[in-house]
Amino acid sequence: MDPDDAPKHDAVPADPLDAWDEERRRCPVAHDGSGAWTVHGHAETLEVLHDPATYSNRVSRHPSIPNGMDPPEHGPWRRIVDRYFGPAAMTAFEPACRRIAAESIDAAVARGGGDALADLGEPFAVRAQCAFMGWPDAMREVLTDWQDANLRATRAGDRAATAEVAAAFERHVGAVLDARRAAGDAAPDDPTTRLLRERIDGRPLRDHEIVSIVRNWTVGELGTIAASLGIVVHALASDAELQARLRAAPGLIPAAVDEMLRARGPLVANRRVATRDAELGGRRIAAGDRLRILWPSANRDERVFDAPHELRSDRVPWDNLLYGAGIHVCPGAPLARLELRVVGEELLARTRAVTLDPGAPATFAAPPKGGFERVPFLVEG
Ligand code: HEM
Repeated sequence: MDPDDAPKHDAVPADPLDAWDEERRRCPVAHDGSGAWTVHGHAETLEVLHDPATYSNRVSRHPSIPNGMDPPEHGPWRRIVDRYFGPAAMTAFEPACRRIAAESIDAAVARGGGDALADLGEPFAVRAQCAFMGWPDAMREVLTDWQDANLRATRAGDRAATAEVAAAFERHVGAVLDARRAAGDAAPDDPTTRLLRERIDGRPLRDHEIVSIVRNWTVGELGTIAASLGIVVHALASDAELQARLRAAPGLIPAAVDEMLRARGPLVANRRVATRDAELGGRRIAAGDRLRILWPSANRDERVFDAPHELRSDRVPWDNLLYGAGIHVCPGAPLARLELRVVGEELLARTRAVTLDPGAPATFAAPPKGGFERVPFLVEG
């Protein structure tokens, strides 16, 4: 058989960024053939983000707090969520976060490296989420299984499986909430207990509402932080000069990480539905049309970012749409930035060199996952 005719199932997937770059240049707002629009362009993405009256977040039958809400319902819920990611909460979490980061890096050094996703990013994200929420260690396995099952069900488009995965998450979080209620005043003062004491419209939150809030935090934490760490390790390991610069000046790490995650986005897409007829990027959008905001593509729009694939330290920070913009801008960004900074600092402080494993190439993740599937790396302590 001609090698070109061989089945491609085991082939290394192509870099999705190449296809998105190509489509964006031809068509900043593209019709994807299945009745939905993909918004690639930076300006067009901003237009969608800043017009929630036309581009609604009510894309699903299932309520999602606050992600699936529009004004005026969104505001009061969003004010509750924002309270958990303020500067004081981040300062309080930093020591625990640093301990988890240091242990994760030391384990990688002891092994001489590993896969930046399976061996570093994914276990770190699960431990960090449990520590932030005040959840017991037993929840780590639950979260790992939940994430795998969720991805499998989403990829297969299996609604029954997706519903079962959602119900399992609700049961586990419900059990933690019951334990906190039973503990009464002795319950630890952490985000889980505080959510139980929140009020909206003068009443306490219902369990399914807390579960929805926490599910959206867990999705933000597990998938996106792990993917981000894969991208960061790949960027450092493939650029010795950048690595040396950040080792010499760790204060540059936060801006460098934001730029790495601009050039290769960890989060692929979010959805909107048009509430009325509109025009976007010269295309006619009809009421009821579905839109997909493609974050990695908007962040590589050459109309805003000169040589978008290059990592540069002199870009305008607010052009970077990594954490979105408008009323749904990521409330977890301070936590994400804290975690990524601390892992970056501990990685560079506890090692002498991080390189890509020459024997095992990095592979790209297939959407809905962003970034890489695997980043095999070597590390010298
Ligand atoms: C590198 C990591 C992360 C990235 C790149 C990221 C990115 C984003 C983006 C682009 C949005 C806007 C979505 C939209 O407009 O539809 C968003 C929203 C959101 N993110 Fe994140 N996120 C990250 C981490 C987190 C973390 C750690 C949490 C919580 C623990 C979190 C919680 C949320 C929530 C609840 C929303 C919805 C906000 C709303 O609808 O008002 N994210 N995120």
